[in-house]
Amino acid sequence: MAAHQTPDKWSPDSWRKKPILQVPDYPDAAALADVESKLATYPPLVFAGEARDLKKSLATIASGHGFLLQGGDCAESFLEHRADNIRDFFRVFLQMAVVLTYAGGQPVVKVGRIAGQFAKPRSSPTEKKDGQELPSYRGDIINGPEFTSLARIPDPNRQIEAYRQSAATLNLIRAFATGGYADLERVHQWNMGFVQDSPQGHRYQELADRIAETMSFMRACGITSENTPQLRATNFYTSHEALLLGYEEALTRRDSTSGDWYATSGHMIWIGDRTRQPDHAHIEYCRGIKNPIGLKCGPTLDADGLLRLIDLINPKDEPGRLTLICRFGFDKVEAHLPKLIRAVKKAGRNVLWSCDPMHGNTISAATGYKTRPFDRILKESLSFFEVHRAEGTHAGGIHIEMTGQNVTECTGGATAISDQDLSDRYHTHCDPRLNADQALELAFLVAEQLKKERDADAKPEPKTLIA
Ligand code: TRP
Ligand code: MN
Repeated sequence: MAAHQTPDKWSPDSWRKKPILQVPDYPDAAALADVESKLATYPPLVFAGEARDLKKSLATIASGHGFLLQGGDCAESFLEHRADNIRDFFRVFLQMAVVLTYAGGQPVVKVGRIAGQFAKPRSSPTEKKDGQELPSYRGDIINGPEFTSLARIPDPNRQIEAYRQSAATLNLIRAFATGGYADLERVHQWNMGFVQDSPQGHRYQELADRIAETMSFMRACGITSENTPQLRATNFYTSHEALLLGYEEALTRRDSTSGDWYATSGHMIWIGDRTRQPDHAHIEYCRGIKNPIGLKCGPTLDADGLLRLIDLINPKDEPGRLTLICRFGFDKVEAHLPKLIRAVKKAGRNVLWSCDPMHGNTISAATGYKTRPFDRILKESLSFFEVHRAEGTHAGGIHIEMTGQNVTECTGGATAISDQDLSDRYHTHCDPRLNADQALELAFLVAEQLKKERDADAKPEPKTLIA
C-alpha cells in the first residue's frame, strides 16, 4: 500500500469517526452508552483461540480442500428462542454436513448464522402499511417487529437481551456438538418426522444406512465413538453480520495470548453488501479485528472495488482471513463471478469463495409475500460451481438462510410449495428461509457438485481438519 494511503491507526472505536449507513435512531444516547459500557464488562461469547482454529480450517478450504457450510436464520428472534427450534436447526444442519462430507470426501467446516444474528440492514428506513408510516424493523437487537410506533423505537436494552440469548443458544449448541448429539452413531436420528417421509428423507435414510454400516465395520475393528472423539463430536462455529457496531465494539477484546483484538460476539463476522463502502465505518471496524471475515459480494461490486476491499481487510494476505460470499441472483452469476475470480487470481490473493444463493433471488409473490423460488436458488448454486470449474478455482462453500422448522417461505422444492401455500406457515421476521426439506434437497444437489469436483481432479489426499 502506498504511503499516502496508509490507513489511520485502528482502535475498537475508530469506526466512530467514519461515515456510516444503517444506524438506528436511538432516542436516548445516554441509555445507549450505558448499555454499551455494561456489555463491555460481560464475558466474551467466544474465545480467540477458537476463531484462530476456524481461520486455519478456512485457510485449508481456500487452498482447495474441504467445504464451508454456513447457514441459519435470516434474523434470530426473541420470541422463537426455544430449545426445540435450536435442536431442529442443528439436526438438519448436521444432516446437510453429513451429506456433503460423504459426497465430497472432504471435511466440512460448520458455521451457523446463529447466536448473534439479530441486526438487519433495510432497504428503506421506513415502512408503510394501511396509510401509516413507521420506522422499519431492524432486527430484535434494535426494535420490535410489531407494526406499532412503540415497538419500532430502538431500545438499547434489547442488546442485553440479544447477548443473553446468544450465550444461551451457543451453550446449547456446544452441548449438542460435543455432548453426544452429533455422534455419527446417531446419524439416523437426525432425520425429523416431517422430513422422513419426503423424497429427501428417503434419500437421507439410504445414506445414513451406508454410514451406519461403515460405523459397525469400524466398531468391529476397534474404532468406536467411545474411543474416537472425531466420530463422537464436531466443531461448530457461530457467525453473524457485524452491523450494529456499538454492540460489536463492546464485545471486542484483546486476546491475552497474542495481544491481538478479536470480536468475541461470534467466531466469524461478515460485512453486508449494503455497508461495504471502503471508507466507511463497517470496513474500518472489521479491518482491525483478527477473526475470519466474510464479505458479501453483490452485482454492484466490480473487480477494482473488490481488490481495494481485499487490500483493506486482508493487507497481509493471510489465508483463511477472507471469505467472499457471492450473491448475484440466479441469472447474473455468469456476468459477474468470472470477472471477480480472474481479478483475484491475477492479483494472487488468497480468498475462500462461497455462494449465497438466497439474497439475489428474493421476489414478491402475487399473494404479496416476499419469497424465493427454490429453482432459482438451485440455479444460482449450480452456476457458482460451473463458473469455478471453468476458471479452475475451488467452489469452497455455501451460505444459506434456513430453519429446521417445516415452514412455507420459499416456493418450490420436492414438496412443491406454491404461492398460495406461502400463507400456511410463513413465520420469518425477515427474509424467506429454506425449510428442513428444501435445505436437505439443496445439500444433495451441492453434494453432487462436490463429487464432480472430486472425480475431476483426483487430488492428493485431503488434509485433515481438527474435527
Ligand atoms: N468430527 C467429524 C466432523 O465434524 C465427523 C462428524 C462427527 C460429523 N459428527 C458429525 C460430520 C456430524 C458431520 C455431521 O466432520
Ligand atoms: Mn436475509
